[in-house]
Amino acid sequence: MQLSSSQAIGIFDSGAGGLTVASAVKKLLPNEKIIYFGDTAHLPYGDKSFETVKKYALRITDFLLKKNCKLILIACNTASAAAYEAVKEKVKGKALVLNVIDPATEFVAEKKDLKKVGVIGTKGTVSAGIYTKKINHINAEKEVVSLATPLLVPLIEEGFIYDNISNAVIKEYLSNKKLENIDALILACTHYPVIKNQIRKFYNFKTNVIDSSEVVARKLKDVLSENEILNTENKIPDHEFFVSDYTDFFETLAEMFFDEKIKLQKKYL
Ligand code: DGL
Repeated sequence: MQLSSSQAIGIFDSGAGGLTVASAVKKLLPNEKIIYFGDTAHLPYGDKSFETVKKYALRITDFLLKKNCKLILIACNTASAAAYEAVKEKVKGKALVLNVIDPATEFVAEKKDLKKVGVIGTKGTVSAGIYTKKINHINAEKEVVSLATPLLVPLIEEGFIYDNISNAVIKEYLSNKKLENIDALILACTHYPVIKNQIRKFYNFKTNVIDSSEVVARKLKDVLSENEILNTENKIPDHEFFVSDYTDFFETLAEMFFDEKIKLQKKYL
């Protein structure tokens, strides 16, 4: 595999959620060019079968390979659970592939002070039980309890954030008995960091709320360094943003996270 440091990093999600990961990548690796794809026409992924999500993920992978990306980051937990192996198989030899679940589960499994860990995510991620499996594979002593919170993605995509509607939904979900006495809550959906402070407020800022974007960005940096394709050129990259369907909120969120004016391009796959 002949990859070069000047190639872009391809990042995708069902919508705007992956922007939380992309912005952490931008912060840590400001020289890297990012090509972002939000599959807004097919959102939400969390309620679809894994077979369908895999099909979408492979189409996007194809697109990002054509864009000559050196690494593809699946910035969606649902797609990471449903399609990581299939994406790796498709990409074989042409780029590197990362998912968002492994860095987060490794991080939590090694934290000694966390005995009972809560996980919230989409129906797809939670019913796959992937966080429990991966955390317990590294550390069998951790108690992992998971809860599907499917209303949060549509609320975030519609811009219902830091308001009474989202506060009521958060309260209803997080008051679930399953999540009682947890030492930490993992946000196992890349949309949820958008409302991280609302969630922290529910816990009066006392429970550790873990958002995987920073650990994922650190993992990405390590992988690029190990493969000697970290971009060290001192030039501001021209990031590209694609969506499969225009939505009002995507652009607002992208500009908020990237702190720059973005030009959104429509590409239906
Ligand atoms: N952001 C996604 C995740 O991390 C998916 C949300 C959805 O489309 O349901 O799971």
